[in-house]
This record gives sequence, structure tokens and C-alpha cells, in this order.
Amino acid sequence: MNIFDAMTQRRSHRGDFQPRAIDEADLGKLIEAARWAPSPFNVQPWELLIIRESEGKARLAELTETAIVAQFKDAKFLDDNSRWMRLTEAEWKEHGDGVLLTEHVTLPKFLQGSPEKLKPLLKNAKSLTFLGHLGAGKMPAKEIAQQVHDAPVLLLVTMNCQKRPPGEGAHRWMWLSMGMLIQNLLLAATALGIGVQFVSAPLESEEHRDKIRALFSLPKHHEIMTLLRLGYVDETGGDAVRLQASEFVQYEKYEERPRGT
Ligand SMILES: Cc1cc2nc3c(=O)[nH]c(=O)nc-3n(C[C@H](O)[C@H](O)[C@H](O)COP(=O)(O)O)c2cc1C
Repeated sequence: MNIFDAMTQRRSHRGDFQPRAIDEADLGKLIEAARWAPSPFNVQPWELLIIRESEGKARLAELTETAIVAQFKDAKFLDDNSRWMRLTEAEWKEHGDGVLLTEHVTLPKFLQGSPEKLKPLLKNAKSLTFLGHLGAGKMPAKEIAQQVHDAPVLLLVTMNCQKRPPGEGAHRWMWLSMGMLIQNLLLAATALGIGVQFVSAPLESEEHRDKIRALFSLPKHHEIMTLLRLGYVDETGGDAVRLQASEFVQYEKYEERPRGT
């Protein structure tokens, strides 16, 4: 696959994967793609922890479930969420950013044809925390946890903070290089017909990150960067939106744009 096709066809895969394991050869190619990422002073601060056994997957699935249930009760999280949550495809396309609600949660039957009914609720995070306390987060949390559990491979990407390059901006440059490693992985996965989803919920809190460190014997100086679930998909590509270039590119000098663009 041509690199430009990989960039445009890469999608976050939120559905189930084919149940088969990832071939050793393909796993090797993903690792090779990661290996060639650039880093400041070529310090290569990364570590990849590949989790294929059910024990590790089950623990990560449990943490995912707990974290999502907590998010549904967290007013600040819900409030911030509502800024980026698009209820309909039309709204999603018009904005060119944010995420489509129905890609993230399976709505109860009475809302399936008309998710816009949720609009007044989304504007009021407090009412959503009320639903969260009534248990509204339990279903999506269980669904996502199950997907984490069933993924052929989970990949924990960590940054070894002891591999610090010189300079005041060291930590920032290390973070940048971690993003590059992850993008290399995502593009290689797309080319191999492997879908990837970020699973950020269990990494949100320090408490959960500490638990994960303990579970996998990761030393304290390893910062947990991301958790990915991976598996073969039937097809790459799929719906996505992006801002137009004119909404984020300028030449020579930055000028404030009219509000909303
Ligand atoms: C750092 C980071 C964290 C993300 N966390 C999640 C996540 O927890 N769950 C999820 O479904 N998608 C997650 N995403 C995927 C984004 O929602 C997705 O990249 C964005 O909506 C654009 O869609 P696309 O990846 O299909 O092009 C994350 C992406 C990034 C870069």
C-alpha cells in the first residue's frame, strides 16, 4: 500500500476484530515500523509491551470498565466531552471535527433513530452525571471492556524517562517522538489490514496507570503513553471527517479567523 493511501485509509477501529491471532511476520513488521521512528538525539525512549495472554487482557479490560463507569459520573469529563460529541452524521460532517456518538456507544433502542434527542442532555453535564449515577455508563463500559478482552493483541506503549536527551525541552521532544512511533505503527497496521483502536480510558488517572505499572512490572520511570488494541479487520477505510486545509493552514503570518471556522 502506498504511504498516502495508508494515511487516508487509516481509521480508528471500534468494532470487533477477526478472531484470528496476528501473524508473527506481521507483528514483526509492526515492530520494525516502530523501530524506525525518529527521536531526539536518537535516544529511542520507547518500550512496547505486547499482551496476548488472557490474564493481562482481562486485567486491562477490568480497568477499562471501571474507568468508563467513572467517566459517566464525572461532570467535568462529560462537559468537555459534549464539546466534541457529534450526535448525527450531518452535524459531524458540518463541523469537520469531533467524534460521532454512535461510533462510541450503542444507543438504547428508543434513541437509535433520533440521537439528536440527546442534545439538551449534552448541554447539561449535570443531568448526564445523574444518568451516570443511575448506571447509564455500565452498558458501554461492559461492551468496550469485552472488546479489550477479546482483542487478539493489546499493546502498551511506554516511554523510558531515563533515556532523556539533553536540553530544557527534553520531555516535550520525547513525547513528540512517541507520537511518531505510534503513527508509524498505525500506518504499518493499515497496510497490513490490521485495525487499531486507542483505549485511553484506563490510562486517564494516575491511580490506574500505577495499577497497570504494577500488573506488568513496569518500573516507575516508564511513563505509560498509550494502550492500543489490534486485530485483523475485514476492510480498511470508512467514514471520517477532517477540517479543511484553509481552517488550519496559513502562510507567512497567523491571522485570527472568524469565530467558528
Ligand atoms: C492520543 C489519542 C487517544 C485516543 N483515544 C481514543 C479512545 O480512547 N477511544 C477511541 O475509540 N478512540 C480514541 N482515539 C481515536 C480518535 O477518536 C480518532 O483518531 C479521531 O476521531 C479521528 O478518527 P480516525 O482515527 O478514524 O481518523 C484516540 C486518538 C488519539 C490520537
